[in-house]
Amino acid sequence: MTFDQPSNAENPACSTQLHVAVIMDGNGRWATNRGWPRLVGHRKGAERVRELVNACPDIGIKYLTLYAFSTENWKRTTEEVMGLMSLFARYIKREAGRMNRSGVRMRIIGDRSRLDKNLRDLFDWVEQETAGNDLVHLTIAVNYGGRDEIRRTTTDIARDVAAGKLRLEDVNDELISKRLDTHFLPDPDLVVRTSGETRVSNFLPWQAAYAEYVFTPVLWPDFTPQTMNTIVQAFGTRERRFGGVPK
Ligand code: FPP
Repeated sequence: MTFDQPSNAENPACSTQLHVAVIMDGNGRWATNRGWPRLVGHRKGAERVRELVNACPDIGIKYLTLYAFSTENWKRTTEEVMGLMSLFARYIKREAGRMNRSGVRMRIIGDRSRLDKNLRDLFDWVEQETAGNDLVHLTIAVNYGGRDEIRRTTTDIARDVAAGKLRLEDVNDELISKRLDTHFLPDPDLVVRTSGETRVSNFLPWQAAYAEYVFTPVLWPDFTPQTMNTIVQAFGTRERRFGGVPK
């Protein structure tokens, strides 16, 4: 992949181990603007996912976490929900081979209990199939909600405390992070939301406490690797203080 801009591998201000999380928004509007069914927008969105994953090493992204279906998205029509679930399944079946050839490890976060058994089996399968890869860590959030994740995690912790398996004094930020769905990931450095909305919509509220946020008007089906490269380049010039003072 070549970019109009220089690759971030040569940008000393940019870590090449970035964790970027994305709220992929605007698929519906993209399709509706063209007089097409919303699912056409989601299909185009899936193509953008594939392109972005392939471009991650060039952009300097090691961890890419994508919000694909929230705990609130069940309110959509059955047709759209079923269409999205089929799209996730098709994506995994089509991309598993390519992910293995290009060193992509794929994992899924969120509450799987409400998902169809075939999809759950496919999630288990792709996680095992790509477990040996380490170049890019792709995490897809399906039936994910930050509050739901924190509720599930804190309930588990409370249960262990009540059973005497854990002491109350041992409950700290690190322990909570290690028990969240994202226990295998570093916290995100950058959260990008497309389509001009400026909400965070229950996406990684614990993990993104110190992340930088970028809101772009670009609709997700128009979001190319070049768009991400430009955002990451700009991020490399921002100073992060984590509550401290400037150096
Ligand atoms: C939000 O746009 C997007 C979604 C709820 C679905 C995201 C799914 C994909 C990009 C498809 C494929 C993903 C993978 C991982 C294969 P919206 O529909 O709310 O758009 P709108 O706000 O314009 O209606």
